[in-house]
Amino acid sequence: MRDFLLAANWKMHKNPSETRAFFAAWKGVTASLPQRSARGGRFRVLGFVPALNFSAAVDAAQGTGVELGLQNAHHEAKGAFTGENSAVVAREMGAEWLLVGHSERRSLFHESDAWTALKVDAGLKAGLKVMLCVGETLPEREAGQTDQVNLRQLAAGLERVDRAILETSRLVIAYEPVWAIGTGKVATPEQANQAHVAIRAWLAKQYGAELAGRTPILYGGSVKPDNANQLREQPEIDGFLVGGASLEVASFSALAGADLK
Ligand code: PGA
Repeated sequence: MRDFLLAANWKMHKNPSETRAFFAAWKGVTASLPQRSARGGRFRVLGFVPALNFSAAVDAAQGTGVELGLQNAHHEAKGAFTGENSAVVAREMGAEWLLVGHSERRSLFHESDAWTALKVDAGLKAGLKVMLCVGETLPEREAGQTDQVNLRQLAAGLERVDRAILETSRLVIAYEPVWAIGTGKVATPEQANQAHVAIRAWLAKQYGAELAGRTPILYGGSVKPDNANQLREQPEIDGFLVGGASLEVASFSALAGADLK
């Protein structure tokens, strides 16, 4: 009964008026979105929008059912952290989600596994749902270290989280091979599924099969309308985290349409 999650990651794209225009157009497609996932759960749409657009997105997305989130937040609720955003404030403003550990945060902003762990914990404690991203680089894949890297990032990212919080079903995992993000090189459906199998097996070992079985694991990295169908047919792929193709209503809604059959 796992949900299917179609998640937009807008990164640092769109200003408030573009945000309003996107959701105005999105309202036109909501009636045609699937209600249920192929695995018997719900079909849900998520939007990770830039923090500066958050208010505009909250207003514009009203009535669409899109669950909004921040792409990053500091682990403290408040304090002397110039330029940072608080997960607690995001929650007050209407955020439901926090994205943590995206590879651009890890590589461009040097966020360590330890920072990632603090953010996962802070997001959950602030009452948000957390999407934890893991994924290997190309040299790591070529060295046969894909699962090792994913499981290390998973173990480190969840280090501070206690089981009671996981029981609330507010954690999802996104597997995003770094070499597939924004490059047009998508993982084959089998490569993605294999990585998801290892991630779910690790979750089952740590937290039991029941909890692992209901945790959605999303794939991300160059998901486009022309490859989405094959990816979603894989039994362990429970959704997509989408960058480029989430910026236009036509391509993003085409990904939703992929779940219609
Ligand atoms: P992409 O980005 O779909 O443009 O590859 C995915 C992501 O970074 O989440």
